[in-house]
Amino acid sequence: MRSKLVAGNWKSNGSLVSNKSLLSALKECSIGPDVNVLVSPPFAYLSSVVEDLKGSRIEVGAQNCSAYNSGAFTGEVTAEMLKEVGVEWVIIGHSERRALFGERNEDVAAKVSKVLAAGLRPIVCVGETLDERENGRAETVCIEQLDGAMAEVKVDERWVIAYEPVWAIGTGKTASAEDAQAMHKVLRAHIRTVCGDVAEKVVILYGGSVKASNAEELFEQEDIDGALVGGASLKAEEFAAIVSAAGN
Ligand code: PGA
Repeated sequence: MRSKLVAGNWKSNGSLVSNKSLLSALKECSIGPDVNVLVSPPFAYLSSVVEDLKGSRIEVGAQNCSAYNSGAFTGEVTAEMLKEVGVEWVIIGHSERRALFGERNEDVAAKVSKVLAAGLRPIVCVGETLDERENGRAETVCIEQLDGAMAEVKVDERWVIAYEPVWAIGTGKTASAEDAQAMHKVLRAHIRTVCGDVAEKVVILYGGSVKASNAEELFEQEDIDGALVGGASLKAEEFAAIVSAAGN
């Protein structure tokens, strides 16, 4: 049995004051024994969020990291640095990074390998655009991205995959539970083909307008092991309801 994971992605949002009140509400939320929860604030707040969450079951993730080791790489934050400040997870290859910051599959693979080498766990995002879905290319695109991500290191049980159809992110449109399940099944089958039985242990999250009202239906699907939550992770009540939909 895979445990469930609910991961909040704060994106480029937050402030010292708003983080404090969001976290103090989240610390009150009840988390089922088979559920893991993390929040991913912007880099600037990681240390203070780690500090704030000490003693709680909520872990901390980053939203990106460098594809390089430390050195003359202005503006980059290495996986080792993240580890040092208490981060345990790193989201890699989010569609916003791919679309807005030119991140390619090769960059994703290099970052994943740094994350794993630092002893952190990657949450690797894949997902098709609306155009790709309408042209019947959704599966091909997601599998290409997954293969690209494992160009350096093959998927093993440290990896988490997040299927995030680009057209569902921040739009209020969620993939139907059936469509999401179908893609999760394809991804798991592909991991089984390439990496073997470990596929059964790999957590695959759905992301894209997950909220309290649709989380339960998504989590009931056989291959959906939790969610990567953007907008709704900034609202304590919504996020707590998603966490509770993952199991009590
Ligand atoms: P959303 O974002 O929940 O706001 O759609 C999800 C994500 O981008 O990870």
